Amino acid sequence: MDLRNKAGIITGASSGIGRATALRLAESGAKLVLMARREALIKELVDEIAKNGGVAAAFAGDVADPAAVEKAVAFAEKEFGFVNIAFNNAGVPGPQALLADISVEDYKRTIEVNLNSIFYCMHAEIPAMLRAGGGSIVNTSSILGVVATPLAAPYTATKFGITGMTKAAAVGYADKNIRVNSIHPGYIETPLLQELDESTLSQMIALHPQGRLGKDIEVANAVLWLLSDASSFTNGSSLMIDGAYTAQ
Ligand SMILES: NC(=O)c1ccc[n+]([C@@H]2O[C@H](COP(=O)([O-])OP(=O)(O)OC[C@H]3O[C@@H](n4cnc5c(N)ncnc54)[C@H](O)[C@@H]3O)[C@@H](O)[C@H]2O)c1
Repeated sequence: MDLRNKAGIITGASSGIGRATALRLAESGAKLVLMARREALIKELVDEIAKNGGVAAAFAGDVADPAAVEKAVAFAEKEFGFVNIAFNNAGVPGPQALLADISVEDYKRTIEVNLNSIFYCMHAEIPAMLRAGGGSIVNTSSILGVVATPLAAPYTATKFGITGMTKAAAVGYADKNIRVNSIHPGYIETPLLQELDESTLSQMIALHPQGRLGKDIEVANAVLWLLSDASSFTNGSSLMIDGAYTAQ
């Protein structure tokens, strides 16, 4: 898939799914602003992309800060001349406990980082895409954006919220040549999961009928397709990337 006529932004690019996707999109020709809080990590990734012949620039900032998000999108537009792709992916697991054991502060922070940030991102990206004549946005939800788990009510609420906000934006801008889709990864092998004990890990694996966890590159490939013109009639969809977890 050829993304040489695409430029835009990836949030949460410093590790995991965001990092793998940045590498995959850059390899396909997209010009990217990488946004995350840890500047050193995104600068390293910018260098790695440049070494591979790609084009990227770093923007350090917090997605829970609407002014920072607006500046990041403006930076991408200035750097590349237009913005027509966006992967709004930054997120945190939030507190892991039963609902009544979670503090109001922890709940609010999870909503701010995972859900409100998606509004801030699209609020800045859509006007830029209208100026560019169209675009494609992918928002990272989760399997927990369509089914629930008892120990992560705030996270689950944010991911269900992303599913809905994605569909509303898709319907709202479909006639303006802007597509908006959400992705719903199952459990993906990340450094975080490697810290889990054997029994928790096997319980997690057992939830996926394919009998394994996903890989970040498997998510990156789906995002690549959604951001490319190859998915031109896919709009407002919730793409499960979960080894059939939610199909049961
Ligand atoms: N790994 C999984 O199993 C899994 C499954 C379903 C959905 N997801 C979702 O995928 C996305 C990426 O997760 P990951 O697994 O790659 O995790 P990760 O921790 O490796 O990456 C998260 C990224 O978001 C960034 N980030 C977090 N808070 C931020 C903030 N306030 N401002 C800017 N950047 C911030 C981090 O710096 C990092 O770059 C998240 O939205 C997560 O909810 C992950």
